[in-house]
Amino acid sequence: MPDLNGAAALVTGAAQGVGRATALALAEHGTAVTIVDINAEGLAGVAEEVKAAGARVHTVVADVGEEPQVARAVQETEEVFGRLDVLINNAVAYNRDIEGADVDVVSTPDAVWSRTFDVNLHGATYGIRHAIPAMLRAGGGSIVNVGSTSGFSGDVVHVAYAASMAAKYSLTRSTATTHGKDGIRCNALATGLILSPTARQNLDTEKLKAYQDNLLVPDFAQPEDIASIILFLASDASRYINGQTIIADGGFQAHQPWHAQSHIVHPDAVGHRKG
Ligand SMILES: NC(=O)c1ccc[n+]([C@@H]2O[C@H](COP(=O)([O-])OP(=O)(O)OC[C@H]3O[C@@H](n4cnc5c(N)ncnc54)[C@H](O)[C@@H]3O)[C@@H](O)[C@H]2O)c1
Repeated sequence: MPDLNGAAALVTGAAQGVGRATALALAEHGTAVTIVDINAEGLAGVAEEVKAAGARVHTVVADVGEEPQVARAVQETEEVFGRLDVLINNAVAYNRDIEGADVDVVSTPDAVWSRTFDVNLHGATYGIRHAIPAMLRAGGGSIVNVGSTSGFSGDVVHVAYAASMAAKYSLTRSTATTHGKDGIRCNALATGLILSPTARQNLDTEKLKAYQDNLLVPDFAQPEDIASIILFLASDASRYINGQTIIADGGFQAHQPWHAQSHIVHPDAVGHRKG
């Protein structure tokens, strides 16, 4: 079991979805948590849940794309909890406006590229920049950059989102390389579709079915399924893993692209999909 008792963590994008589930998982393991988000109302609700789980919580309403706000969140964590051991860079710019405008390489506007990189990449960079001195003072730490398998593949949409995720994995390796010997690990988690509130809002039944046909597990991940992996990466249970991007996508990228059509391509094969 991960041992994070007495540690202090900072989780960005914690007002809902994976960030919320991670804050609660950390709390259940005795970790004090600073929760950061632009959504003040959502944060207040999660703060109550963390307290109910028996952990100390500090709330910071902040935009991770603004460095001074991230610096304040780290500083307040040290002031309130006396240390910072774990940083979870989870916040993502993926609302309807951005997703709708983040189309292809020709059409995606500069403003969408900028906001996507400001939050997804620069937000993580600011977190790392300010957390590392605090982690050095605490004697080491663990950083987890939450990303998407979109960072590995081309697609006909979401070009800025995918590029920002690929960059997040590079940032992960550079951080691990620079600070591994200081006792600070940095890993990334590339997830496939998770049934978070945003995913539920953005995807209708037909789209979910098309995605699900390509999973190698019976059903989609819930935010809690991802939080348990983040918890593992945050804790000493994963102390020999550094600079890696772990994939949690239900096998989505582990098979031949035509798997969902294998009833056509390999109709006699055992285990082909029934369509
Ligand atoms: N949900 C999925 O299907 C899916 C798929 C692949 C990867 N991921 C990754 O998982 C992580 C969490 O995803 P989720 O589905 O829980 O997301 P979500 O949209 O449900 O939650 C993201 C949170 O980030 C907050 N946020 C947005 N911009 C912010 C900013 N500038 N500063 C601070 N907070 C900000 C939002 O308010 C929200 O609370 C992300 O890193 C995402 O890339 C999710």
